[in-house]
Amino acid sequence: MSTTESSRRPLMAANWKMHKTPAESAAFIEQLRPQVNDAACDIVVAPPFVCIPAAVHAAGDSVIAISGQNLFWETSGAYTGEVSGAMLQAAGCRYVIIGHSERRQYFQETDETVNRRLQAALKMALIPIVCVGETLQEREAGQTEAVLSRQFEGGLRGLSAAEMQNVVIAYEPVWAIGTGRTASPEMAQEAHAFLRGCIARQFDTRTAAKVRILYGGSVKPDNVAGLMAQADIDGGLVGGASLQVDSFLALVKAAR
Ligand code: PGA
Repeated sequence: MSTTESSRRPLMAANWKMHKTPAESAAFIEQLRPQVNDAACDIVVAPPFVCIPAAVHAAGDSVIAISGQNLFWETSGAYTGEVSGAMLQAAGCRYVIIGHSERRQYFQETDETVNRRLQAALKMALIPIVCVGETLQEREAGQTEAVLSRQFEGGLRGLSAAEMQNVVIAYEPVWAIGTGRTASPEMAQEAHAFLRGCIARQFDTRTAAKVRILYGGSVKPDNVAGLMAQADIDGGLVGGASLQVDSFLALVKAAR
């Protein structure tokens, strides 16, 4: 789908996964902060839960927004080990990542639990970054589009068009995450265009033109330009290359 008429602001998101202490998180953000005042994209950093207060404090009133890496759908209660959207919100988060493939793979996340988390995030006015993507086996079996539609329909069920416009989608082919094996820009563009088509079908073309779709999976300073040049790629969700200020900054500068 052509998106030339849309005005989606690019977004570069750092997914730190289980890396960095509170002190390391603060030091990173303090170093990044003065260098991104005039960034042409939205900047999001998702540290581990225990680093969120330090990260929020270090980001202060800068353009850097802090994100959770997950949330539980209940607001509070007897759920040992869980963190709610209300808690993330109160801690100063503006975004939350939902349904990352590592959570699907290691923590029994399903499209249904993704949907419950998504509804909870929207209720708390957190901007959800919902991850979808096929495994290598699924791609090689020619099931990429079937997997993406299933994840999209199941994960994003029951939203209004207005709610959908606030959602960010991250297309992360599982075989490209942490492997150094990036999808080619054309391959990624094809999946992004397919996902935008899913949004148009389930909602409408206006909504589809507004939703930001990030690419994730071994995004690095040396491959980001080719990805960002694609019509339907609106930014990145970055693991490895987001752990050093210099490489993350290079990605932020490429997102325009
Ligand atoms: P990667 O991780 O950039 O290290 O491949 C991306 C992600 O899992 O979000």
